[in-house]
Amino acid sequence: MASAKLYFIFLLYQLLYYLHLAIAQNNGTVPVGATLTAGTNSSPWVSPSGDFAFGFHQLDEENNSNGLFLLSIFYNKIPEKTVVWYTDNKDQNPAVPRGSQVKLTADRGLVLNDPQGKQVWSSKIDIGTVAIGVMNDTGNFVLASSSSSKLWDSFTNPSDTLLPGQMMETEQGLFSRKSDTNFSRGRFQFRLLEDGDLVLNVANLPTDFAYDAYYTSGTYDSTNSSNSGYRVMFNESGYMYILRRNSQRFDLTTGRVVPAADFYHRATLNFDGVFAQYFYPKNGNGNWSAVWSQPENICDNISGEFGSGACGFNSICTLDGDRRPMCECPKGYSLLDENEKYGSCKADFELSCNGGGQGYNKELFDFHELKDTDWPSSDYEHFSPYDEVQCKNTCLSDCFCAVAIFGIESCWLVKLPLNNGRADSSVNRKAFIKYKKDDDPDPPSVPRPPDPEDKKKRKMMNATGSVLLGSSVFVNFAMVCAFVLGFFFIYKKKWIRNNPGDATIETNLRCFSYKELEEATDNFEEEVGRGSFGIVYKGVIQTTRTSTTAVAVKKLDRVFQDGEKEFKNEVVVIGQTHHKNLVRLLGFCDEGQNRLLVYEFLNNGTLASFLFGNLKPSWNLRTNIAFQIARGLLYLHEDCSAQIIHCDIKPQNILLDDYYNARISDFGLAKLLTLNQSKAIKTAIRGTKGYVAPEWFRNSTITAKVDVYSFGVLLLEIISCRKSFDIEMGEEYAILTDWAFDCYRNGKLDDLVEGDTEAMNDIKCAEKLVMVSIWCIQEDPSLRPTMRKVSQMLEGVVEVDVPPNPSPFSGYMR
Ligand SMILES: *[C@@H]1O[C@H](CO)[C@@H](O)[C@H](O)[C@H]1NC(C)=O
Ligand SMILES: *[C@@H]1O[C@H](CO)[C@@H](O)[C@H](O)[C@H]1NC(C)=O
Ligand SMILES: *[C@@H]1O[C@H](CO)[C@@H](O)[C@H](O)[C@H]1NC(C)=O
Ligand SMILES: *[C@@H]1O[C@H](CO)[C@@H](O)[C@H](O)[C@H]1NC(C)=O
Ligand SMILES: *[C@@H]1O[C@H](CO)[C@@H](O)[C@H](O)[C@H]1NC(C)=O
Ligand SMILES: *[C@@H]1O[C@H](CO)[C@@H](O)[C@H](O)[C@H]1NC(C)=O
Ligand SMILES: *[C@@H]1O[C@H](CO)[C@@H](O)[C@H](O)[C@H]1NC(C)=O
Ligand SMILES: *[C@@H]1O[C@H](CO)[C@@H](O)[C@H](O)[C@H]1NC(C)=O
Repeated sequence: MASAKLYFIFLLYQLLYYLHLAIAQNNGTVPVGATLTAGTNSSPWVSPSGDFAFGFHQLDEENNSNGLFLLSIFYNKIPEKTVVWYTDNKDQNPAVPRGSQVKLTADRGLVLNDPQGKQVWSSKIDIGTVAIGVMNDTGNFVLASSSSSKLWDSFTNPSDTLLPGQMMETEQGLFSRKSDTNFSRGRFQFRLLEDGDLVLNVANLPTDFAYDAYYTSGTYDSTNSSNSGYRVMFNESGYMYILRRNSQRFDLTTGRVVPAADFYHRATLNFDGVFAQYFYPKNGNGNWSAVWSQPENICDNISGEFGSGACGFNSICTLDGDRRPMCECPKGYSLLDENEKYGSCKADFELSCNGGGQGYNKELFDFHELKDTDWPSSDYEHFSPYDEVQCKNTCLSDCFCAVAIFGIESCWLVKLPLNNGRADSSVNRKAFIKYKKDDDPDPPSVPRPPDPEDKKKRKMMNATGSVLLGSSVFVNFAMVCAFVLGFFFIYKKKWIRNNPGDATIETNLRCFSYKELEEATDNFEEEVGRGSFGIVYKGVIQTTRTSTTAVAVKKLDRVFQDGEKEFKNEVVVIGQTHHKNLVRLLGFCDEGQNRLLVYEFLNNGTLASFLFGNLKPSWNLRTNIAFQIARGLLYLHEDCSAQIIHCDIKPQNILLDDYYNARISDFGLAKLLTLNQSKAIKTAIRGTKGYVAPEWFRNSTITAKVDVYSFGVLLLEIISCRKSFDIEMGEEYAILTDWAFDCYRNGKLDDLVEGDTEAMNDIKCAEKLVMVSIWCIQEDPSLRPTMRKVSQMLEGVVEVDVPPNPSPFSGYMR
């Protein structure tokens, strides 16, 4: 009896032990096929230590049955849900409804679908097949292949937060959310610029146009680039610094940091534009406290002619104890959108000049006085010396004046909208902000007009006044209005906001006038290249009031068949195609026969001049470039919303950036040309001897495989550093593709890389690359692999089989 009982207890213990084990065994891994559904009890994917979790985080009240959820990574053990990563998206609110599902797939990694099954977000996997997901204890969610190589991770795709162990390379950045609880893109950016400076700046929404920085680390050295920064580090002990090329550091974290073993650390670009590093005790409750933050005074440091400042337009910014801004509408103004506390304010009355000139409606308005307040950049008049009474009277008599600012003997009149408003004891100025007195006002404090009339009569006169008078006052006024409107219109017109076809897609392409580009290129002075589509000139454009950037302006030299709609549509498609191995389109010009495209300017020229120059570039660099081109092409073929076939892949169309990363240019242009004139394109492209797939000469369909062919030729050129067609090499060797196949077949690859010791030492890799090329240049397009397969072969994810003779049916026998 007793022993049976003991045995039972023993069994129970064992059961508990296994249960415990099952829980403790969590190693953070997530198998392919796993799903999570928003609003159900499916538990999130938790890291082994339990510190971090990946899953849906409910954004509104938990009892709300409609419910919005955010797919995110958050701290799993602390009461305040603190999100460190989310599915940030420029064009779309990342909040998804209950019933949305995320799935870990082998080919696309994480895929988030809404309850109707429509994809709303996915991780971008360039190459490879996902075998496993891992929620790491560092807070990084990693997708890895079966050989454990990293295919995607949240650390290299940050949203608004960095964690210890995470770093940020040049041209990467963080974007703020809209508010504490709204995760749509906000206005602020934290970026490591290409030149090595770390900056905070405001971006105009929705164009993304960056205004002047309000914080700059100063880690750009124009005289000695080895002093410039290239990476922002947040090391495991919780220190942030910028690494310079000479491996020295620029410290961002100032002061001592509490130990990472006992505290969580994070650094976040807050929704209000302040970047701060915080810590939180791991055990016990507490709150997030800041270690350091930038900028010093956001109310003051965001200034400049354009943009609203730290707060919205017509708002006043004050700094709290944590260097965070608070925004408030002045008296007589209220929020444009109730839910956006940091947004713009609108006047509760009309500051209208209608029906009268100087001093006309003067008695309808009065002022609220605001101490230590200023709107320093919306002035339109300045009087000095002046006293306070004169200042107020002048503003009152001026129907354009919204605020009078009075300092020492100085008076500024300020117009709407008010920007960069701030209140601070150091301001030393008073603001008198106009408001409209009640509709049924007390006797006005200012003298009435000479012939006082009742309101009704005055209104009638308003209506007739303009007709009867036709006076110079009215004409002047009309001209001022026209001018203001015109200016506004011109300024607005510089940015196209939407796609003619689809109102929901937005681009940040700039629309240039021909004249602007003429000036930008100094009347098309410096030619930097010639392609199948036109001549390219170097130019410089103004990006903000005080900064400029170099651009490449391509003047398209063909007359396009169909009207502007197609041109614009295609340009918009190109403008929406972003990948780190593609040259980025910044804008365009479309004026009659003048059609130009404006691209970013890349400093290191074309792959052609790089490969075929006097010095053979290093083997490593060359293979990297080949991989990058493959990735860029894969993106064009498979990952764009509509497939883009390049049609003209050749070393002249591959550009190199400052760090010798390959960037494909001229993509999307073939489409532009083929609008009803495929013949023209064939002749245009046929000019590019040596890279052209045989189907161009036959009457067969042109598919993405033409690019695979050209890539194969290009790859051989990269391997051998010689041109695809070079008659000076002698007849036997003139055609690179033939010669390469001969070398391969006869086991004489050394000939192909002759004198290149690096390649000789890596002959196994060289052989693999040659085999891949031979697959690509198969005459039969159906034998050629897809760019996906090519990338996988290059990266070693799949084996490369022995390739057949690329042109088995051609006349020459060997
Ligand atoms: C993680 O745990 C799962 C089962 O819980 C197991 O299949 C997998 O092999 C483990 N992985 C590692 C790396 O330990
Ligand atoms: C949800 O619960 C909170 C209190 O916990 C209550 O204030 C709120 O009204 C509830 N909302 C709904 C939609 O039931
Ligand atoms: C997870 O983080 C640890 C450090 O805590 C690191 O050593 C490991 O490589 C990471 N695992 C993955 C899959 O990134
Ligand atoms: C968040 O902000 C966006 C953009 O202003 C707005 O469209 C959306 O309704 C907001 N979402 C929530 C949940 O408030
Ligand atoms: C650039 O700075 C490094 C030290 O950071 C120095 O060693 C090097 O000589 C400098 N180069 C030039 C061209 O001044
Ligand atoms: C992080 O940086 C700090 C300050 O530079 C240094 O003291 C610390 O040893 C570093 N920690 C790690 C893990 O590298
Ligand atoms: C939270 O932080 C404030 C300072 O911001 C501090 O005064 C307070 O004691 C902290 N609360 C807890 C529970 O630690
Ligand atoms: C930011 O504002 C503070 C306080 O007004 C000022 O001391 C500092 O120089 C400003 N910094 C920049 C970069 O403008």
